[in-house]
Amino acid sequence: MFNLILFGPPGSGKGTQSEKLIAKYELKHLSTGDLLRSEIANQTPLGLEAKSFMDKGQLVPDEVVIGMISSALDGHPEAKGFLFDGFPRTEAQAEALDKLLKLKKTAIHLMLALDVSEEELVKRLLGRGKTSGRSDDTNEEVIRARIVEYHKKTSPVADYYAKFDKVKHIKGEGTIDEIFDALCEQVDMKKK
Ligand code: AP5
Ligand code: MG
Repeated sequence: MFNLILFGPPGSGKGTQSEKLIAKYELKHLSTGDLLRSEIANQTPLGLEAKSFMDKGQLVPDEVVIGMISSALDGHPEAKGFLFDGFPRTEAQAEALDKLLKLKKTAIHLMLALDVSEEELVKRLLGRGKTSGRSDDTNEEVIRARIVEYHKKTSPVADYYAKFDKVKHIKGEGTIDEIFDALCEQVDMKKK
């Protein structure tokens, strides 16, 4: 198995690059943002709870997303590996993920972290908000709140994996193909 975390602030290109990486390396894509949006679309109790946090740009409580990831892992016993996008976002989530993977006799092999300046993030998200229908993209205040939440609670997750020497930083500005090539270079080195 090969398990990868694609890490980075809101708008850094995790979703865009995930689509390309899962196709090339035959990984199962697990995006907690996409899973939560599907719960909202289906108007489940979990979705209704999550929406109140997401609309403010705040993280959804750890136990909610950890439960979702645990079911998603169990739901794909055939997977050759997983690409985690937007998860883990707190140290508690990272510790829970390590435990879940250990039960499956596997682990995280690599974290690729996309570095993008704050002004570029805001520009991209406001741009996407014109067409995406994502309520958290339409208003600059909520976008800035997501970035603050990222610095406060999520960026320490990279330090957690750095302790195990599993993190590589990639410049997340440039063309989508240039960034994809830089990500693939790191995956190929790790897989050797
Ligand atoms: P989530 O859905 O994960 O959103 P996010 O992290 O805020 O990031 P985005 O999906 O907005 O951006 P991205 O990095 O995927 O970039 P993308 O490829 O789309 O989370 C949403 C919310 O759900 C959170 O705020 C939280 O409330 C909750 N949540 C989710 N997971 C959680 C967890 N684990 N714990 C707690 N709460 C959780 O690209 C962005 C835009 O830029 C696109 O328009 C794209 O076309 C464009 N773009 C991409 N690459 C480039 C490029 N190279 N040049 C120019 N434009 C580009
Ligand atoms: Mg995304």
